[in-house]
Amino acid sequence: MATDRKKEKTQHVKPTGIRKGRFAKDMDQLFAKYNASISVDKRLYEEDIAGSLAHVRMLRKQEIIPARDARIIEKGLQEVKRDLEEGKIGLREDLEDVHINIEEALREKVGDVAGKLHTARSRNDQVVLDLRLYVKKKIALVRKDLLNLLYVLTDKAEDTKRIILPGYTHLQRAQPVRLGHHLMAYFLMFRRDWERLGDALKRCDEMPLGSAALAGTTFPIDREHVAKELGFSSVSSNTMDAVSDRDFAVEFIFCAGMVMMHLSRLAEELILWSSSEFGYCRLPDSFCSGSSIMPQKKNPDACELIRGKTGRVYGNLMAILTTLKALPLTYNKDLQEDKEPLFDSVDTIESSVKIMAAMLPDIEFDPERMLAAASDRSLAATDLADRLVRSGVPFRDAHSRLGAAIREGGTNGLGEGGLEMHIPSPEEMVEARRHRGGTALRSVEDQIGHARSFLKDNGFVSAATRRSKGRQSKI
Ligand code: ARG
Repeated sequence: MATDRKKEKTQHVKPTGIRKGRFAKDMDQLFAKYNASISVDKRLYEEDIAGSLAHVRMLRKQEIIPARDARIIEKGLQEVKRDLEEGKIGLREDLEDVHINIEEALREKVGDVAGKLHTARSRNDQVVLDLRLYVKKKIALVRKDLLNLLYVLTDKAEDTKRIILPGYTHLQRAQPVRLGHHLMAYFLMFRRDWERLGDALKRCDEMPLGSAALAGTTFPIDREHVAKELGFSSVSSNTMDAVSDRDFAVEFIFCAGMVMMHLSRLAEELILWSSSEFGYCRLPDSFCSGSSIMPQKKNPDACELIRGKTGRVYGNLMAILTTLKALPLTYNKDLQEDKEPLFDSVDTIESSVKIMAAMLPDIEFDPERMLAAASDRSLAATDLADRLVRSGVPFRDAHSRLGAAIREGGTNGLGEGGLEMHIPSPEEMVEARRHRGGTALRSVEDQIGHARSFLKDNGFVSAATRRSKGRQSKI
């Protein structure tokens, strides 16, 4: 091992690129690998080129670099983009990061004039520009996927609004509810997530370029021009904040964590409900796996993975918060560690939301099993107590009388030979809750109506769900 290390050390060559002036020696190879972020930040190449194009156009307009040079650089960047997309060139793992890579690819195309692109700019404002562009793009995509999930949930709630099952507290049967009501609870969670991401977008939508390394630049830049070209609605108002701020990334990961938490709760219910113990639903074969040894098994792997991956996103949130917690202003290399938790959260939330939305339409519920469980007479206890209250008994006394009757005679204690009360049917019980937000049919239909106008207001039409609506409802 020691000799290997020695060999690596002797491989130093004369410094090139940004090390050419200040450094006498090239990087230690171990350190070069440690320092490099290209394997992670390569996914920012489109944003990096878009940012550079806007920057060079601004440099030309402001006459900071000659128009001729600017045009050469602009054309060169467009060619680099095309070559990368067509696979004619690739990003080089031996060049530190995506920014150096693009600059180097440009130099290969247009020669030393490429060096003028970095006028009035630093990688510190460049990287945060790329990241903001990327997060903005991803927020828009995730919000679209969430709208699709909301659409699917609304359809499913409509299909199942007549099914009655026990609602639970402490995972103990509590009171009957409509399945549509239960599903609309998830609609509201994901709708809040959609809104929350919209709020996060506002804070992400700030153009940092022009901050340069940390204090701004001596050149007469036009930041508004760059912002407009890149579709930002404002420019950042403090250069030091701009290069060291990663709040927008933290906020995105937090929002992703919240979405995952909601998905995980739904996934957990589907796991429980599809077990033989509950028998409330059958998950589609296409989202389940088999066992390598037990032939009878059909495992809810998609749901379990959603539940499992939720932990990763929480971990990502802790990771980025911890990275940031003790950093002095402004840029510190620690900030390079922001990307892995961010990108991993993006990938996890994107796939998880899509999978839940794809799986939901094909879940088959078992209305008989659900109704049978909801017909457990003890679920009527609250309604019977309410009836005593209507005849003037204080609620606390009614509660004790019902409790005692059940303690003595089980649910038989409620009917004949016990309190002698008519036990309402599950249907009667849900229909008795007709107020806004209740579980009566009218209220559930109201919720669905609001959901539909929300989706319409946000211009949502989904080809996929229109197709699945056309299918015969399986319940
Ligand atoms: N790869 C770096 C990052 O992701 C880019 C910024 C480098 N800036 C610097 N001063 N070394 O943070």
